[in-house]
Amino acid sequence: MNKDSGLKKINGNYKGKDILSLDQFSPKDILSLYKKTQQMKKIALATKPVKNLAGKIVTIIFYEPSSRTFNSFAAAVKQLGGQTLEVHDPKTFSSVSKGETLEDTIRVLEAYSDAIVIRHNEIGTAQKAANAAEFVPIFNAGDGIGEHPTQALLDLMTIYDKHRRLNNLTGIMVGDLLYGRTIHSLIRGLSLFKNNTIYLLSPKELKLSREEYNLFIQRNIKLIEVDRIDDLPKNADFLYWTRVQKERFKDLRVYEKVKNTFILDKNLLDKMGWKNAIIMHPLPRVGEISTDIDEDKRSVYLKSQIRNGMYVRMALLDLILRNK
Ligand code: CP
Repeated sequence: MNKDSGLKKINGNYKGKDILSLDQFSPKDILSLYKKTQQMKKIALATKPVKNLAGKIVTIIFYEPSSRTFNSFAAAVKQLGGQTLEVHDPKTFSSVSKGETLEDTIRVLEAYSDAIVIRHNEIGTAQKAANAAEFVPIFNAGDGIGEHPTQALLDLMTIYDKHRRLNNLTGIMVGDLLYGRTIHSLIRGLSLFKNNTIYLLSPKELKLSREEYNLFIQRNIKLIEVDRIDDLPKNADFLYWTRVQKERFKDLRVYEKVKNTFILDKNLLDKMGWKNAIIMHPLPRVGEISTDIDEDKRSVYLKSQIRNGMYVRMALLDLILRNK
C-alpha cells in the first residue's frame, strides 16, 4: 500500500489526506481551511480560468441521489481547472450491477483519477473505500447515517461568516437527529471549539442514538435534549432544522407519524424571536421549513449555505490535490 489508510488527523497538513470524519480536524485545521476558502471564493467570483487542478481528474461516484454535494464537488473541480468522471447510480450504470465489490470498483476508479468522492447508503463505506484505495484520497460525501464531513465544514463556515467565531455559541438542532448524518458531523465539529451549547429537539423516535449521545457528552460540548418547542431558548446563534430521512425507515408508518412534528414557519419565528439566529438547513427540505420564511434575512439555507458548499469543497480539493 502506498497510501496510509485509517482515520488520519489533518494536523496542519491536508496534502493527500482522505476526508472521512470531522474527528480528523483541529480548530486550527478548520480555520486554515476557511482562510483558503476566502481565496477560493475570489476565484469563483472572478470567473477567470485558473489552473490549480489542471491535469487532475476527480471521480465522483454516488450510490445515493444528490442535488448539492454531487454538483458542488463537480463545480468545485471545474472552477479550479480540473476534470471529473461522474458516476451516478453505480448500481445501475456501472459493473456494480454485475456484482463488482466496492473494493474492486475503487481500485478501478483510482487508476483513472487523482481523487474519489463517494456517497453511499451504508455507514462506514467511505472508510472502506479509503482502505481499498492505494494511491488517491477519498472524500466522504455521506455514508448512510454516519457522517457528512464536507457538509459540516460548510455549515461551520456559514456560522463563522455570521458570528465571526465558532466558540461560545448557542445552537438549536431540530428534526431527525438519529439518521441525519449532517447532524452527526456538525456536533463533532462544534465540540472542537470551547463553550458551545446545543439544544436538541426531535420526535422521541429520532433522538441521537444513546451511543452517539454518550460519546458527544464526553467531549467539549453541552447537549440539552428537549421534547417541546417551548423548551427551546429564545436567544440562539443558529437554528439547524433538518428533514426526517424517509429513506432510512424500515417501517414507513413510523415515518408518516413523525414526519411533520416540527415545522418552522413565520408564526413560530415570530413567537420565538430568535432575532440573532441564522436559519440553516442542509437541504433537501420536504415541508419542515415553510417557504414563507425563505426571504427572511435570517434564512441562509437557499443562499450562503449552499454557495459555501462549493467554496469549501474548492478549498479542500486545492489543499489536498494541488502540486505546489
Ligand atoms: N446537503 C446535502 O447533502 O444535499 P444533497 O443530498 O442534495 O447532496
